[in-house]
Formats: sequence, C-alpha cells, structure tokens
Amino acid sequence: MVIAPAIWYKIYNMVTEKTNKAKPAGTVLGGRYELKGVVGRGGFSIVYEATDLKSGEKVAVKECTVLSEKERFLREAKMLADYAGESAIVRVIGYFEDEETAYIVMEFLEGENLRECIEHSGRWTMEEAVQRMAPVMETLGHMHSNNVIHRDISPDNIMVLGDGSLKLLDFGAAKQYEDSTLSRLVVKASYSPPEQMDAKGVFGSWSDVYSICAAMYFCITGKNPEDAISRLMIDDLQKPSELGADILPAAEKTLMRGMALDSKERIHDIALLRKELEKVYPILSEEEKLEIKRKSSAEEQQPCPRLQRL
Ligand SMILES: Nc1ncnc2c1ncn2[C@@H]1O[C@H](COP(=O)(O)OP(=O)(O)O)[C@@H](O)[C@H]1O
Ligand SMILES: [Mg+2]
Repeated sequence: MVIAPAIWYKIYNMVTEKTNKAKPAGTVLGGRYELKGVVGRGGFSIVYEATDLKSGEKVAVKECTVLSEKERFLREAKMLADYAGESAIVRVIGYFEDEETAYIVMEFLEGENLRECIEHSGRWTMEEAVQRMAPVMETLGHMHSNNVIHRDISPDNIMVLGDGSLKLLDFGAAKQYEDSTLSRLVVKASYSPPEQMDAKGVFGSWSDVYSICAAMYFCITGKNPEDAISRLMIDDLQKPSELGADILPAAEKTLMRGMALDSKERIHDIALLRKELEKVYPILSEEEKLEIKRKSSAEEQQPCPRLQRL
C-alpha cells in the first residue's frame, strides 16, 4: 500500500515527542562544546556551529530533537564514523548523550547545502554536476559494496564547500540491506524512489541511484523533480532539456534511466551510472582541475555567510 508522504509525516509527528527549540548561544554541551548559533535544521535535528573548548576548533554539533529517535541517532553517528576515511563524507569527530538527548560532533563544513547553493548561485551544467558528483558516487559505491544504502540523498543532505567539492551528510536513514529491524519509511518528496514509499518496497543500490539522479536533476534545472507518487499516477516528469538545462542527449537518457519508476528498468548500480555519465563527460584529472581553479577568480569562491545568530 502506498501512503502519501504528508500523511506519514503527520502520523510520525503524532507518535513521537519533538523538541524544536534551539539551545541559546553560550550553552556548553558535553562539558566541552560551546554553541555559537544554528546553521541548519532537519526534520529530526538542529545543527549548531560550536567551539571545542579543549582544542579551540570550530565544529558542528547535531542535536537529536525527536527523543524517540535517540537510538537511531546514535546508530547514525556510528555509521558515519565507519566512513570517516571517505573524502566525500562529512568527518564525524564523536558523539555523546546527556540526560535529555544525543549529539553528534562533526567537522564544520564552510559552505552551503546544495539546495541553498543552487538557489543562491544558479544552476549548473550537467558537465559540472557530473564532475562534482563523481566523488560522491564513488563513495556511495563503497557503501553499497558493504551493503549499506544511504536512502536520503537530496540537495539538503549534500554540502557544497568553497572549492566546489561536495560532502555527503545525514546518515540518519542509512541502512544495511539485510537489516531486518523495523525502520521508519524514509520519504523525501521529489528525491525518494517509489520503493521507499511502500512499506513492502524492496530497496537497494538502485534506490540511491534514483535519489542521486534526482539531485542532479535539481542541480541542472533548479527545480525539484516531480515526486514519485504523482509520477505513479501520471508520469509527466519533464526532461531537463525541456526546462532549458545544459545537458547532452546521451547524458539525459542516462539520467532519465536513473529515475525510472520501475526499479527493474532503472540503472541498478551506482558505478554503472557513473561510467555511463563519464562516457559523455570525462572526469577531469587533478591537474586539469587545478588549472581551472587557477583561472577562476577568488571572488567566485565565497563560502556562504549563513550563520543564523541566536
Ligand atoms: N558538519 C556540518 N557543517 C556545517 N553545516 C552542516 C553540517 N551538518 C549539517 N549542516 C547543515 O544542517 C542541515 C541539516 O543537517 P542534517 O544532518 O541533514 O540534519 P537532519 O538529519 O535533521 O536532516 C544541512 O542541510 C546543512 O545545511
Ligand atoms: Mg538532512
């Protein structure tokens, strides 16, 4: 049975206890992290900029705001720690609990999330999207080979740093294929494939393929793609080229195959997705990237001043 995302969200909020109030600046958490301000909020958390009073380092502290999700939140921290060596994933420093809730401490990423970045700076060409997403796709391939899928790839869960590189955030929904424990349905309209909206849906690497293609669709069109539920009724997902995106036909075909509603028709494997896209837009070598960086002026690389003071 398929249930609309908005209804799931309502049910979820009714059965969970939620604390959405941000802690004031100056609060010291875990006897060590002094909060400076809020830099982001998700459905399950508040993310603060903080100073580690021990090292003086600027860090990000993510607070779990849905108390019934504390255990899952701590699993997220452990899962992130497993991938600490991956350059396309935010580096987790640690996690701790207090009598109220749980917190994850991460490196502070100077930049904007992908949604803010595209909204502020305009859409990318498909060539740019492929270049920037290639390391993220590689990292996802490593996760998939360990039977872990992210399940929540979206523009809000990818950070764009000042140098244009991307980092994947938010492992709150990541899951082992064979993990049989009951998990919340992860639904992000526009970015979740149909199998994630169905309690009996079979998810796998192909589910992340759908979401990463939907995120690339957003990068090149500036628009959220039509959500899977609406598409299941009438599939009138517009091709990016119809929305004026700068994309070659072969890459568009691949992107649309990555967003096929029927998982059997979808590109199944992230490595294959990357290979198909790289056939159209070969990935630049490090030297070529450096050359481009040298040419681009310093003003073009400004991280976003988005700290919202408390
Ligand atoms: N390490 C970080 N450094 C800077 N900003 C961050 C960091 N982690 C998260 N954010 C910001 O906080 C927002 C919400 O974080 P996220 O981990 O996605 O929370 P949720 O699980 O509640 O969705 C992100 O979209 C981003 O803007
Ligand atoms: Mg998030």
